[in-house]
Amino acid sequence: MAVSAPIRNRVLKLRAALHEHNYRYHVLDDPAISDAEYDRMFGELQHLEARYPELISADSPTLRAGAPPLKQFAPVNHKVAMLSLSNAFDESDVLAFDKRIRERAEIEEVEYVAEPKLDGLAVSLLYERGVLVVGATRGDGETGEDVTMNIKTIKSVPLRLRGKNIPEILEVRGEVFLTHAGFRKLNEDQRSKAGKLFVNPRNAAAGSLRQLDSRLTAQRPLEIFFYGVGRVTGKIPDTHRALLKAFKTWGLRVSPLADLVVGAEGCIEYYERIAKIRCRLSYDIDGVVYKVSDMSLQSKLGNISRAPRWALAHKFPAQEESTVVQGIEVQVGRTGAVTPVARLRPVFVGGVTVSNATLHNRREIERLDIRVGDTVMVRRAGDVIPEVVSVNTGKRPPHTRRFKFPDTCPVCGSEIVYEGEGIVARCSGGLYCSAQRKESIKHFASRRAMDIDGLGDKIVEQLVDKNLVQDAADLYSLTVEQLVGLERLAGKSAQNLVQSLERSKTTKLERFLHALGIGQVGETTAQQLAAHFG
Ligand code: IVH
Repeated sequence: MAVSAPIRNRVLKLRAALHEHNYRYHVLDDPAISDAEYDRMFGELQHLEARYPELISADSPTLRAGAPPLKQFAPVNHKVAMLSLSNAFDESDVLAFDKRIRERAEIEEVEYVAEPKLDGLAVSLLYERGVLVVGATRGDGETGEDVTMNIKTIKSVPLRLRGKNIPEILEVRGEVFLTHAGFRKLNEDQRSKAGKLFVNPRNAAAGSLRQLDSRLTAQRPLEIFFYGVGRVTGKIPDTHRALLKAFKTWGLRVSPLADLVVGAEGCIEYYERIAKIRCRLSYDIDGVVYKVSDMSLQSKLGNISRAPRWALAHKFPAQEESTVVQGIEVQVGRTGAVTPVARLRPVFVGGVTVSNATLHNRREIERLDIRVGDTVMVRRAGDVIPEVVSVNTGKRPPHTRRFKFPDTCPVCGSEIVYEGEGIVARCSGGLYCSAQRKESIKHFASRRAMDIDGLGDKIVEQLVDKNLVQDAADLYSLTVEQLVGLERLAGKSAQNLVQSLERSKTTKLERFLHALGIGQVGETTAQQLAAHFG
């Protein structure tokens, strides 16, 4: 029996609405309805398609839920090869790149589009008459794998393009990636299912995209930015900049950080601008890419072996490096939290030399099974504390031993108690523990608390070790005579310190509350308390 017209219309209406809301949410970042409403419409469409299978179409939003598993991926031949990029590691490489282009093109000044270099996986998506028909991985650049069903589960991938002037055949290229939050959530899910943990977001994105069961891929929060084209029939804009604009109108998500710059100088400025915000981005990038904007100039320049002459990847210093664990110790914090740290053979990573890395907690030590002598990957991103991401057990020397978490505090000998399902270790010594006392005084004096100028960590440690102070209140009875005996404190700085202690007595209530380091009372709560009680 044929499906009635009202049902057919309802299906079309739901599909159109879901496409529209998807576009608003993922491309414009401007949702018009709640997630719950979206889910309700999605559920209704799923229900109708299940009931009337003849209404299923290749661009239905329900495909985002995934399809029954495949036995293997079919090969896809890239009619236009997926090239790689030449790399630049310093400014002189960028100057040379720009000079080569100016000389070949015989022009004074070149306009480039600069974009972040996303650290994910390149994919190629073929749209025929605006409908997504094939999604493929890069593979070796000539032949990739057909991962269409998986690509269709990515919510920011349009299943049907929108807008005007869409070429009949349009192959677009972009990068699939996971955000840091998506990666963490995925690993939490994996852990709770005792599944395999992923080392980094890139790895997790690759594993998710090459998943034979697309219903699993559908549960992974993959994202995409588009940055180029492959095979195209018909006309497309004549600059890369205009192409990215057209992408947006067609519903293809483009990095909001892409920008037009002029000459090598503009490129380097862009590089520095992005390097500064890199640590605040919610996803990994490993550099920036410069592309000649003028498409006719692009074709004139052509390729050298596997990379275009018109583009350059300017890489950031690596945020991950390998080194060797020389020791594993535990540190006692202000609230008694006992944190394991790895002492490392110093290694240059993320722009600084790192010799300590946090191991977070007992569970993390168990997960990594990290041992003294191990070769490990260390990561330092932005201002965050360096951490050990993985252990290369293949390089483990013979006769290593598992690290055993201590039962007693290494500083005061008190018993260590476990909280939070046995994960968080805490020294039960309270203010009997000199480590806790030192840390709470350091916190008291810190810039965002009482802001006591001249009371650095080394001085606090000596004050506690020499029994000159027991707690923060004792600071206010210190005399110049007591202070001059300390290392790093000559006569003048001892006087200055006593003065800044005196000055700190006049402060805001919220700073004082925060400085006390009361459990659950951080900066924000302190502000709220001060505002309320005055
Ligand atoms: S353009 C012909 N733009 O980098 C130009 N690639 O080393 C080919 N990538 O395989 C690529 N962000 O996976 C381009 N904004 C961006 C990129 C980007 C990341 C990756 C891509 C490619 C690799 C080349």
